[in-house]
Formats: sequence, structure tokens, C-alpha cells
Amino acid sequence: MIEIKNLTKQADNKLILRGVDLRVEKGETVAILGPNGAGKSTLLKVLAALIKPTSGQVLVNGLELKKNHIEIKKLLGYLPHSSLLYDHYSPLENLVFFGNIYGVKDVEQKAIKLIKEVGLSFFLNEPVKNFSRGMIQRIAIARAIVHDPEVLLLDEPHTGLDQGAISILNNVILSMKEKGTTTLMVTHDFKQAAEICDRVIIVKNGKIVDDFKIENRNLGYVSGKYELQMEGVS
Ligand SMILES: Nc1ncnc2c1ncn2[C@@H]1O[C@H](COP(=O)(O)OP(=O)(O)OP(=O)(O)O)[C@@H](O)[C@H]1O
Ligand SMILES: [Mg+2]
Repeated sequence: MIEIKNLTKQADNKLILRGVDLRVEKGETVAILGPNGAGKSTLLKVLAALIKPTSGQVLVNGLELKKNHIEIKKLLGYLPHSSLLYDHYSPLENLVFFGNIYGVKDVEQKAIKLIKEVGLSFFLNEPVKNFSRGMIQRIAIARAIVHDPEVLLLDEPHTGLDQGAISILNNVILSMKEKGTTTLMVTHDFKQAAEICDRVIIVKNGKIVDDFKIENRNLGYVSGKYELQMEGVS
């Protein structure tokens, strides 16, 4: 469970987040939509404990992030815009490296299984630097989940993926949801948001301007709500 209370983030005299309040229950899959520069990635970085908020509070499973960030980081899987992979390492080496940081048991077997799941078994031992963008994104997804995180923070995870990889990713998110994983996914891809998320928040100018449930994978409903906000009508 994630609770965010009156969160602000200021950088270079600019207020990027202006008082964000949000509560996400365990097992919820939430899409974060909003225009470029709205503050979506910044919000995810604060949750991933990569940057400190200027004010406000973040609680994960009732623990305050500020005071327990090492403990909380173990619960998080974060997929940023950049892959966080080591270029000269193979997929297997990358996953084993990250898995070891998190103390994953039988890490090599786990890594091989995940690499297979994202469809890259043939490239197990090739350095990542030779990979295409979509291949890197597939491995980055595997890296983000190697330690079975309770909370997944995904920043535009579908970018660069082909149709096959999109369904692999969606299945990963849905099967983790079944295990109780909570997911926050920043995306510009409304179709994927409607496909896999049960709730949408819209961020504009550093604030949450709408927050609603999606039923029956209703893409039109999501687009309609979004357009209303972009027109400035509430
Ligand atoms: N470290 C920083 N210093 C100064 N300004 C920053 C910093 N990080 C982000 N910003 C600014 O904060 C605003 C929000 O950035 P953010 O990356 O969170 O947007 P976003 O909603 O993820 O946009 P996009 O859809 O383009 O990814 C932007 O105007 C950006 O220039
Ligand atoms: Mg962003």
C-alpha cells in the first residue's frame, strides 16, 4: 500500500510537484497519464527513493520512506526511461548482478527463467551493448522484477516494444498483480493503460487533476476523461 501526502518537489526554483495526495491499495494497477513535463517521472523517482521530496510524506506499507528507505527499496521494482543495465554485461550477467544486490535465491536459475520469459534466450550471453532498443527494454523489464518486488514503478514501459513484447509485458504485470503486486505505470499509451490498469490518475502541472477507475477496458472513457482535463474543464 502506498500513501502520498501533500508531496511537493522543487528544483531550480521551479515547483515540479505541487501538493500530490494519493493512496494506492495493495494489488492495484494504476496508470499515471499526463502531458510532457507534468511531473510524472519526478513523482516516480520520489517513490523509488532516487530523489528527495521538498516537503510531504510518502508511506509504503505503513513505513515512512524518509526513515526506512533502505528497507523500502527492497520492496520496489523500478523501470526508468534509461535501462540501468551494464552495457558490457550480458543479460544473464546483468540480472545475476542485480539479483545478488537484492539477495535473490538461486539467482542464476531465476535470471535464465526471466530472460526466457522476455523472449531473449538466444542472447543470454551476448553483451547488451549490441542489443536493439526493444531488446534492451525487454531485459530492463526482467531486471526490474528479478527480486519479485511488491511494488512496481514503471516509467513508459511499453516504449520501443513490438507487439509480442507488449503482450509479454502486460502478462508480467497481470501475473504480478495476481500475486498482490501494486503497480504504478506512467504511460502515454492509453490503449495499454485501459488494457491492464484498473485505475487512472491524470497529472497536470505537478498536480493530480483526475483519479478514476476503469471498467471493461474502456479506452474511449480514458481518452474522453483525459481530453476534458487537457481542455481545462473539470
Ligand atoms: N533535476 C531537475 N532540475 C530541474 N528541473 C527538473 C528536474 N527534473 C525535472 N525537471 C523539470 O520538471 C518538469 C517535470 O519533469 P518530468 O520528467 O517529471 O515530466 P514527465 O511528466 O515525466 O514528462 P514526460 O512525459 O516528457 O516524460 C519538467 O519541466 C522538467 O524540466
Ligand atoms: Mg517522464
